[in-house]
Amino acid sequence: MKLVEIDQVHKSYYSGGDRTHVIRGADLSMERGEMVMIMGPSGSGKTTLLNLLGGIDKPDSGILRVDGLDLTNLGKKELTRFRREKVGFIFQFYNLIPTLTSLENVELGLEALGLPKKEIRSRALKYLRLVNLDDKLGSYPQELSGGQQQRVAIARALAKEPKLILADEPTGNIDEEHENIIMSLMKDLQHRSKTAFMIVSHNTRLKRFMDHTLHLRRGKLSESNGG
Ligand SMILES: Nc1ncnc2c1ncn2[C@@H]1O[C@H](COP(=O)(O)OP(=O)(O)O)[C@@H](O)[C@H]1O
Ligand SMILES: [Mg+2]
Repeated sequence: MKLVEIDQVHKSYYSGGDRTHVIRGADLSMERGEMVMIMGPSGSGKTTLLNLLGGIDKPDSGILRVDGLDLTNLGKKELTRFRREKVGFIFQFYNLIPTLTSLENVELGLEALGLPKKEIRSRALKYLRLVNLDDKLGSYPQELSGGQQQRVAIARALAKEPKLILADEPTGNIDEEHENIIMSLMKDLQHRSKTAFMIVSHNTRLKRFMDHTLHLRRGKLSESNGG
């Protein structure tokens, strides 16, 4: 069974009477533990695609399956459960909770998995250490640089060790040294836990880490061929 199946998915947005047809018959399948990168110009629908796959948004039509679940048929409660248990999100603008420390932000993501308190604490500490933030455990998001906030967001998603990680420009604010640390971490999780990754990025340095690189153009996905 494929981990991800996207088949002829369409998604439009309506605002002020205008329709924007963003995703226009996209197809993609991903195996367990596969790492793919999605490239595409600004406004091409990359974030929309991640939101669809993560059960944050619903398609107009088409098939959207993750780990055997048909996302188009899930109710609100089931979708929430799906997001909590199966998916780790690394949002473009981090979405950290401003009133929680780095450690608490990472722990919050793990509480939804129903792990014992001790395990939650040790996993959160482990992943914050792995992204080089052991000295920022008690810091609030506004006390951190953009790159540090992004690393907290990455630790939060990876610590769940989920089936699928959806990452929106995950290295957009990170220096090259940390970029390598983060990519090694992701590769390690990919191999150790068979976690699959869909990574949206413009950063061609990331290409060498990928099993596939795809382009989103005019609402469709196609294999990258240099052009
Ligand atoms: N919630 C929304 N309501 C209306 N239009 C939206 C919404 N989200 C995205 N769009 C539009 O859909 C298109 C694709 O957006 P997006 O997926 O954010 O692109 P990307 O991430 O590739 O830059 C854009 O034209 C954007 O304006
Ligand atoms: Mg985007």
